[in-house]
Amino acid sequence: MFTIKDHLEIKNNHLMIGGADTTVLAEQFGTPLYITNESRVIGNFSAYRKAFPDADINYAAKANGSFAIIRILAREGAGADVFSFGELYMALLAGIPREKILFNGNSKTDFELQKAVEIGIKVSVDSIDELHTLSKIADSLGKTVEIAFRVNPDVSAKTHPKISTGLRTSKFGIPSEEVVDAYKEANGLPGILPAGIHCHIGSQILDTTPFTEATHKMMDLVEKITGLGINLKFVDMGSGLGIPYKKDEGQAPTPLDHAKAILPVFEERTRALGISISPRLVLEPGRFIVADTTILLARVNTVKKAARNFVGVDAGFNLLVRPTMYDSYHHVVVANKANSRPADTYTIVGPICETGDIFAKDRTLPHIEKGDLIALLDAGAYGFSMSSQYNGRPRCAEVLIKDGEADVIRSREDFVDLLNGQKLPARLM
Ligand code: LLP
Repeated sequence: MFTIKDHLEIKNNHLMIGGADTTVLAEQFGTPLYITNESRVIGNFSAYRKAFPDADINYAAKANGSFAIIRILAREGAGADVFSFGELYMALLAGIPREKILFNGNSKTDFELQKAVEIGIKVSVDSIDELHTLSKIADSLGKTVEIAFRVNPDVSAKTHPKISTGLRTSKFGIPSEEVVDAYKEANGLPGILPAGIHCHIGSQILDTTPFTEATHKMMDLVEKITGLGINLKFVDMGSGLGIPYKKDEGQAPTPLDHAKAILPVFEERTRALGISISPRLVLEPGRFIVADTTILLARVNTVKKAARNFVGVDAGFNLLVRPTMYDSYHHVVVANKANSRPADTYTIVGPICETGDIFAKDRTLPHIEKGDLIALLDAGAYGFSMSSQYNGRPRCAEVLIKDGEADVIRSREDFVDLLNGQKLPARLM
């Protein structure tokens, strides 16, 4: 029998989240529904802060860009890793101070670079070409922009190929062996102040040794860059800590393990640099902060015995694409029968017109019938933030639970929202 993760309880056979009964929430707000536990967001962020007491924790807004979530983290003192002007706009609006933000991205528009310069946001520069564009923009505005280079450290993160970002073959960053020359070049350019160095080796990493390897490689570079007379203010090691989506991944590393993999190397090597002011360490966790805070709740439309025992629910991969895109595992609980005896093997599918619209294959679950509620766990990271309206499906609502009470933080889209921004040329009227 599955034991529910420590922050999800069962009461009267119902799945509870943050003290709220999921079956009641389904009645009150309808399904599909994203449900987030506020105190879990705060708890996860605190765990990171405790593990890295002297580092800056920049929340990766792409993991869950809901405004209320960014606001919670802003109030907890988080900085932000933003990957677009849209994310920058949201982070600033949520109250994250501009000096705590790093503008990342491998293909920024001139507009985005200009905004970063105007507002005074640090930029992680991904290529020499971008460096020159940024220099021209900053110079023409009479400003100086602090930059880091995004390094491609050529480290295997031992994770899904689609979320491995630090391999030599990946599109991100500047190859390690070209990085020192990049700093030399940046140093002489108008409007540019080399202030940091940045890498990010991948996501959903369950073995922490690649973090240690990456820290060594980054500190090799820091040493060489310091040798050029450039004193870096920060070393941003990105993120990538995985979470235990599967029960047998119960031994997944924690922020403390992440810290053990990075801090000794970072501290020893910054000491060895012998400079008076050591660079500050920056981390950019996304998944760990939000993944396990949230469930996606869906209602069963229909059950069919065919090649498999198919359970058709009212959420599809337009709302949670991870299983379709990365074959990701999300634990399934029948929310209104959370403690019932397992009865059969079921495959949970969505209503989208694609064979790959499968949330979970061959799971042993209690007897399922029309009207039951299916909870997909650990849906808080890269869930709603990767959603779409594919197949003419308005996006669902999101609620935030605090002390058992729910607030809507995003309204359910209506069918008219499918027409948002669309126009008919006069000839089609
Ligand atoms: N920093 C940078 C520069 C990143 O590109 C990312 C994630 C992060 C930080 C946050 O990494 P995390 O702590 O969440 O592992 N959609 C995929 C994950 C894509 C990750 C993209 N970059 C998924 O659902 O697994």
